[in-house]
Amino acid sequence: MATEQDILDGLKQVEDPDLHRDIVSLGFVQDIKIDGGNVSFRIVLTTPACPVKAELKAQAEEIVSGLPGVSNVDVDMDAEVRVNQPMGSAKPVEGVRNIIAVASNKGGVGKTTVSVNLAVALAKQGARVGLLDADVTGPNVPIMMGFEAGFMAEGDRGLTTEEKYGVRLVSLGFVLPRLSPVAWRGPMVGTAVRQLIHDIKWGELDYLLIDLPPGTSDASMSMAQEAPISGVVIVSTPADVAWEDAGKAVAMFDKLNIPVFGVIENMSYFVCPNCDEHHDIFGHGGGRKAAEELGLEFLGEIPLDQATREGADNGVPITQSDPESSQAQAFLRVAEQVAARCSTLQFATAGVE
Ligand SMILES: Nc1ncnc2c1ncn2[C@@H]1O[C@H](COP(=O)(O)OP(=O)(O)O)[C@@H](O)[C@H]1O
Ligand SMILES: [Mg+2]
Repeated sequence: MATEQDILDGLKQVEDPDLHRDIVSLGFVQDIKIDGGNVSFRIVLTTPACPVKAELKAQAEEIVSGLPGVSNVDVDMDAEVRVNQPMGSAKPVEGVRNIIAVASNKGGVGKTTVSVNLAVALAKQGARVGLLDADVTGPNVPIMMGFEAGFMAEGDRGLTTEEKYGVRLVSLGFVLPRLSPVAWRGPMVGTAVRQLIHDIKWGELDYLLIDLPPGTSDASMSMAQEAPISGVVIVSTPADVAWEDAGKAVAMFDKLNIPVFGVIENMSYFVCPNCDEHHDIFGHGGGRKAAEELGLEFLGEIPLDQATREGADNGVPITQSDPESSQAQAFLRVAEQVAARCSTLQFATAGVE
């Protein structure tokens, strides 16, 4: 009859594809119980948004079922997102495991659309997710998350989060409604955002996404410096010279010692609303190639799609209204990539005990 050690030895064949190590030495296999021919255990991954969760489970089941005397295997897939200690001097935020900043070189590339959909996609996978709207140049997260235009101006809401579609949301517009945009210059933004990040009771969060102001202005820079960011994702489009700019943004984040997880190509291809067909208007694979040439990781592509735009404009992100659609699945795949970057970064900086 198989022993606990036999089970662990067998499961050493199962490798985490992102961390390139077996799930036993990573400490993922827990609570092994053997009761006659019945074996159960948990596999605790580093993110609930693991793209190969089902494959890992099937592999583990198959291996353990093949051990002598085992008649039934029950694998419980679980996840525990680890804390990413930020690199710079910024103070960690209590309860928040990872802060992911969403940046772009200019407005209108879909930074907010991507932010809200990534947040909702991660929440749907079971992660505890927050979203901070720090884009003072256009704080439109509330609109895309279904808050009415008047919401921001209603009284003093204090430093609380608003829960929507499973995401804990804060907008600069919620908490500081009366300051005119003119007042939002440079370091002030950084200071306000630092206060927000630390004073708000986020509770326990696996991922806090921040919708940064576009560009490399003072505002976005001071913002980035003040927040203990785990990594930045840059949103770009194929239609402009954005790739050169993306390279510039990366150089700047490098200078601030903030890891860049990679680039998301938005409005990458067109999904025809009538025939559901996939049109590569910009040619296929251009974004990936451009990213590679610049030495950037390519985190995936999001289609140019009418339902995505309508969802954003109507306050119900496509990942919420139609999570099974191919467009929502595109956001989910990118979200999984981003989550994987958080896990690998954590293991790279902290090592594995
Ligand atoms: N993938 C997409 N498909 C269709 N429309 C999009 C897509 N991404 C963004 N948009 C639309 O483009 C406009 C700008 O997007 P937004 O997210 O506000 O950009 P940013 O935050 O970079 O300024 C919005 O009207 C939005 O609905
Ligand atoms: Mg925006």
